[in-house]
Amino acid sequence: MKMIVLRRFRVLIVMVFLVACTLHIVIDLLPRLEKRAVAAGAPANPAAGSGCSCAHRPSDEPQNWGKQRARTGSAQPGWPSKHTLRILQDFSNEPGSNLTSQSLEKSPGSADKTEAFRRLEDFAQSGGHLVGDKQFIQDASPKRERNGGPSKLSALFQHPLYRIPIPQLSEDDTLFNMNTDLRFNPKAAENQEWPNEGTDEEEYTPTGEPSADSYPNWLKFHIGINRYELYSRDGTVIESLVKDLVLQKIVSVAMKSGGTQLKLIMTFQNYGQALFKPMKQTREQETPPDFFYFSDFERHNAEIAAFHLDRILDFRRVPPVAGRLVNMTKEIRDVTRDKKLWRTFFISPANNICFYGECSYYCSTEHALCGKPDQIEGSLAAFLPDLALAKRKTWRNPWRRSYHKRKKAEWEVDPDYCEEVKQTPPYDTGTRLLDIMDMTIFDFLMGNMDRHHYETFEKFGNETFIIHLDNGRGFGKYSHDETSILVPLTQCCRIRKSTHSRLQLLAKEEFKLSDLLEESLLQDRLSPILYRPHLEAMDRRLRIILRVLNDCIEKDGYSNVVENDLDRDIADTITSKR
Ligand SMILES: *[C@@H]1O[C@H](CO)[C@@H](O)[C@H](O)[C@H]1NC(C)=O
Ligand SMILES: *[C@@H]1O[C@H](CO)[C@@H](O)[C@H](O)[C@H]1NC(C)=O
Ligand SMILES: *[C@@H]1O[C@H](CO)[C@@H](O)[C@H](O)[C@H]1NC(C)=O
Repeated sequence: MKMIVLRRFRVLIVMVFLVACTLHIVIDLLPRLEKRAVAAGAPANPAAGSGCSCAHRPSDEPQNWGKQRARTGSAQPGWPSKHTLRILQDFSNEPGSNLTSQSLEKSPGSADKTEAFRRLEDFAQSGGHLVGDKQFIQDASPKRERNGGPSKLSALFQHPLYRIPIPQLSEDDTLFNMNTDLRFNPKAAENQEWPNEGTDEEEYTPTGEPSADSYPNWLKFHIGINRYELYSRDGTVIESLVKDLVLQKIVSVAMKSGGTQLKLIMTFQNYGQALFKPMKQTREQETPPDFFYFSDFERHNAEIAAFHLDRILDFRRVPPVAGRLVNMTKEIRDVTRDKKLWRTFFISPANNICFYGECSYYCSTEHALCGKPDQIEGSLAAFLPDLALAKRKTWRNPWRRSYHKRKKAEWEVDPDYCEEVKQTPPYDTGTRLLDIMDMTIFDFLMGNMDRHHYETFEKFGNETFIIHLDNGRGFGKYSHDETSILVPLTQCCRIRKSTHSRLQLLAKEEFKLSDLLEESLLQDRLSPILYRPHLEAMDRRLRIILRVLNDCIEKDGYSNVVENDLDRDIADTITSKR
């Protein structure tokens, strides 16, 4: 009797198991079958393509992926998976820490690469002409009105110094070259001419317009990167991307491994990703005088302000950053799959939600990050293209600090250090030394002493700009100007004419740097971003830089200090205008 009961029980369990399996399979297959049906029905009704009823359709934005999905039909798997899209982005801002907790989930390199390329091909197929898209992104004329009234910022961006065109771009000058990348897949290459001969495609793009508009903003940003700039002066793409950083739903959160302080990788509904640095300090707090630069906090507002400052200086070398108020429960704890992160959440005696995560510095209960009561401020920096698609080269900053309590670096003891650097590749030719000077000025204005390495895109070789990544240690002190940051400039006495002219412009009352930065920062959700004394400190530091340059010119002569990188025509217009 007992045996029979036991046996029946076992049969029951097996049945339940089978039912569960069947359900699982059905649930898995259903969306695919549905899509196949859509694909089959699509030619008759183009709208059906975007009407994909997949349960997890992210938003209206990627509608065209729906269309593309329908067009490629059952030949390829459907929605761009989170996985394949994630591979398009990367953000590693510390040397040696290019692995993120998320990239650890990924399959190894070569597979990533194939997948990533396939992803790009899909986009090319859906949109057609990527070259045209680049055009679309770069040539769109500025037509935005900034927030009414007399805007110093829009006046600045109208100034001839801010309208100097970048050189004509060849295929070697853009980070992504769809034609070359497409050769990886002969099928995709065949499809290149589809607009002329396409039969079924026409139904999806009835106007014959490439669908660049339908790309998510983060992808438009990636496609627009070239040898001379991270993004163009016409800020439409960047402004939309900044909006996305603030408004897109956060669908998953992971800890970034490798850094000294806690950083989170946030993934959005449109598959965009950003690096989140939580607020650690109030805006008025200064770095204590006995703190070493290498143990200073990384400030979220410094990351935001750096993006705006870099743009005002017309470098455009900082990836877009926006401030955001994050609901720690809903947007971090509830969407993270990282148990280690999840476990560090607690409620403080003051009834605020806190967490501390895992990292090598400041990740403990004593340094917990607490919300008010469950909201925390932070900066979100857009990811750069994934390393598998666009490798970057990491360079040691010749004027790196010793990162040691007692040791001094060579540049601190040798006044002729620059002569050595000037003879060492890549500083012996090209523009790299001038780029270091730009970066030096940028860092001195912010008071950032933490520039041990820098990065460039490998594709562009030595003739390209320096990406100004990782600026969280700027804006630590407003009552002190750290002149040692300017040493590269005082030792080398070199500067681009364009940079010099812009600095002179920003020293005028009409275009006062602090006013411009203040106005620019008003656009951020977390405004005010900087405590007023920080803004005033920048005007003071700008005068110091100009004084150093004047001394250089007196000592070495104008033409030995100022490198004329401006066309004669442009230089003439500018000097005649002012
Ligand atoms: C990441 O950095 C390590 C060195 O820390 C290097 O060996 C590796 O090739 C890098 N990976 C990528 C994808 O760049
Ligand atoms: C944060 O999200 C939780 C839901 O997880 C909600 O109960 C709470 O009201 C939210 N806080 C704010 C300030 O919106
Ligand atoms: C780029 O710079 C490196 C020095 O790090 C040098 O070895 C290389 O030859 C340079 N490449 C070109 C094309 O000048």
